[in-house]
Amino acid sequence: MKISIQRENLEYFEANVHDVTLLEFLKIIKTTQDSTLSFSSGCRSGVCGSCAVRVNGKEVLACSHKVKDQDIIEPLRNSEILRDLVVNMDQAYSFNQKAKAWQSKDAKNILLTPENEKINEIQSDCIMCSSCYSACPVYAVNQDFLGPFSLTRVWRYVSDTRELTPEDKINTIQTNGVWDCTLCNECTIVCPQGISSKADIEKLRARSAMQGYSDPNMASFGLSF
Ligand code: SF4
Ligand code: SF4
Ligand code: FES
Repeated sequence: MKISIQRENLEYFEANVHDVTLLEFLKIIKTTQDSTLSFSSGCRSGVCGSCAVRVNGKEVLACSHKVKDQDIIEPLRNSEILRDLVVNMDQAYSFNQKAKAWQSKDAKNILLTPENEKINEIQSDCIMCSSCYSACPVYAVNQDFLGPFSLTRVWRYVSDTRELTPEDKINTIQTNGVWDCTLCNECTIVCPQGISSKADIEKLRARSAMQGYSDPNMASFGLSF
């Protein structure tokens, strides 16, 4: 579904239209014009990650984006559309399982220093909005690719000094994982939390190389005479 914002819709708001969030706007449309309109929302404050949509081709949180005349609203890409602006988030979430993106149960029971906490602080801020999956051109053509937020989450635990077996985590991300990313940075550009999955993937590649792995794509650059 595509929704085009028109000036007459915006003028419904007697307040300054520049202060109207897209989420408020959608709620007004639903209560005054089309009660069937479906969209997801929760916290209304950029915390729960449930309201991500695309505006003019770019992923945003509806509760943060201020609507403008002529804005075009669409659902996230690369996920099944359940209805209108609501997409099925299950597939992207399932990649956390495939990537084993969690702390091992027998992790070291030690207190982290403030310096240790800083190492993966930003990765812990992911709100699982799926914007990065919508923007990722690799995920668009290969839905087995573990993708940005799962790989960021793997780095979050690989870099955790309490983790006893980071090598196992590196082993699980070699296929449809770190080497499939093109480092295009689209995921970083759209992330509302300022997380760079691209940078995390580069760090995972470096750790993979330290474990003896290499980029399988380089093997196809053989010399022929
Ligand atoms: S990494 Fe950023 S864009 Fe991706 S799911 Fe987390 S918060 Fe959303
Ligand atoms: S940098 Fe990698 S993970 Fe991020 S959007 Fe590009 S291909 Fe996808
Ligand atoms: S409603 Fe929770 S992030 Fe927008």
